Amino acid sequence: MAANKKVLEFKKRREVVLTGGGEKAIQKQVAMGKMTARDRVLAILDQGSFNEYDLFVEHDARDFDMDKKTLHGDGVIIGTGTVNGRPICIFAQDFTVAGGSLGSAHARKITKIMDHSLKMRMPLIGINDSGGARIQEGVNSLAGYGEIFFRNTLASGVIPQISVILGPCAGGAVYSPALTDFVFVVDQISKMFITGPEVIKTVLGEEISMEDLGGARVHCEITGNAHFFAESEIECFEQIKKLLYFLPWSNSEKSNTQPTGLPDPKFDITEIIPEDPREPYDVRDVVRSLVDNSDFFEVQELWAQNIVIGFGKLAGETVGFVCNQPIVLAGVLDVDSSDKSARFIRFCDAFNIPIITLVDLPGYLPGVDQEHAGVIRHGAKLLYAYSEATVPKVTVILRKAYGGGYIAMNSRHLRADFVFAWPSAEIAVMGPEGAANIIFKREIAAAEDPEAMRLQKVEEYKEKFANPYVAASKGFIDSVIEPEETRKVIQHAIEVSSRKDISMPRKKHGIPPF
Ligand code: HXC
Repeated sequence: MAANKKVLEFKKRREVVLTGGGEKAIQKQVAMGKMTARDRVLAILDQGSFNEYDLFVEHDARDFDMDKKTLHGDGVIIGTGTVNGRPICIFAQDFTVAGGSLGSAHARKITKIMDHSLKMRMPLIGINDSGGARIQEGVNSLAGYGEIFFRNTLASGVIPQISVILGPCAGGAVYSPALTDFVFVVDQISKMFITGPEVIKTVLGEEISMEDLGGARVHCEITGNAHFFAESEIECFEQIKKLLYFLPWSNSEKSNTQPTGLPDPKFDITEIIPEDPREPYDVRDVVRSLVDNSDFFEVQELWAQNIVIGFGKLAGETVGFVCNQPIVLAGVLDVDSSDKSARFIRFCDAFNIPIITLVDLPGYLPGVDQEHAGVIRHGAKLLYAYSEATVPKVTVILRKAYGGGYIAMNSRHLRADFVFAWPSAEIAVMGPEGAANIIFKREIAAAEDPEAMRLQKVEEYKEKFANPYVAASKGFIDSVIEPEETRKVIQHAIEVSSRKDISMPRKKHGIPPF
């Protein structure tokens, strides 16, 4: 009987805490088109799998009348659960409780679940919806952020870390998502910035809305801070589950090998590349013609679209794709596409995901803007990432591989394990037009008909270099293959390199051109 009383009392207590910031605050949250923190957690996890911890944690702040305030769960929910049957760690900031602001107890809850995810080797999902450092708690809040950033860094490359921005994520708070591997945002809901519109108005006298400053589109299309854009929270959660389907749970595992199907025959690999080498095509169709079920999961689809990155399965095993995209800027490399691909390569390398590189580019983007934006430093990141990666690395040159682009896109010289080329491949220091104009300048100028001479020299240059055979004769390319052989050849290349064992020179760490 006495025990029942205790149970009833517990249930009552729990009931109260589960209301978060109370009915009014919940109504305000819903009116903003947002789900509550608890509903978000439950929507991501498999039904009935959530185990919550630290439900009864309370803050111990005393200043600014905080001693009179009860903040249920201190504004954050933490726990473990499963996604598609596999265990993960999760936290969700509860905006209905003091605006999800981060005080020291709140931070301790987050760091507890972060420690679990690292110790127990499972992915971490963090849902951010917060006004930032809890102003009343002063330096204790700042300390809390520091502890989180430190753990994000420690866990980087050990377990996948996923951030979801579902409300404000302001001030220094943005640096936790920035340190994680993938950031998900939702249209009209996500707001991410270092200094908000108020500060900008005061300091710079400029007016800007939160949406235009740091909304979902801004971070997917302009800054590249976010990796996945969704129209709704539910769509966002589906994207998270899909991403997890491709990922291993830690750096000591390989991705789950699942039974899958062949590519959809509607993506006919022999028909995708146009006859005319100047005509563009969508490289994603090539990827779709290669991967199981033609299911390609693109990452950062809306940013630096001249390079395409993402995951697919090949005979059930996850592979990462890095591909020049001829329909955007002819697939050139520039500052943003170098950053985008370099980071993705490092993710794949850290998590034992083989990298497949599809090459078709005229080189690096020329111009003052790019030079002054630091294309040397940023471009170097790509060389560094490929050179350093020790996972199986397979390259297929589809068409152009000119200049620095040839080297940078996982060439043999950066230690690709296998390099294949289609008969349409052209491997040269630069495009035939530019090359002929430079090296035959004198002959062209002296000719009776300079234009005819120029065209003849372009043809001569093409004959000599605009094909895969010179590179193949040097062994820089392992095989010239027909397009329809590509899936089989890549699959075999990955299979034979799966036991690859190479070691790098002993060092504490390298110094990539960050
Ligand atoms: C304490 C906070 C808070 C905060 C919001 N609240 N932010 N309490 N510390 N940082 C409280 C509000 O007082 C309010 O409490 C409740 O949360 C809801 O907030 P509202 O302002 O009513 O909501 P809304 O109108 O939707 O505006 C949301 C907001 C705004 C845009 C996030 O609250 C805001 O601008 N907050 C401050 C954002 C900010 O500048 N953060 C940076 C802090 S410095 P009641 O009791 O009224 O419901 C920082 C540095 C970290 O983060 C550095 C780490 C390295």
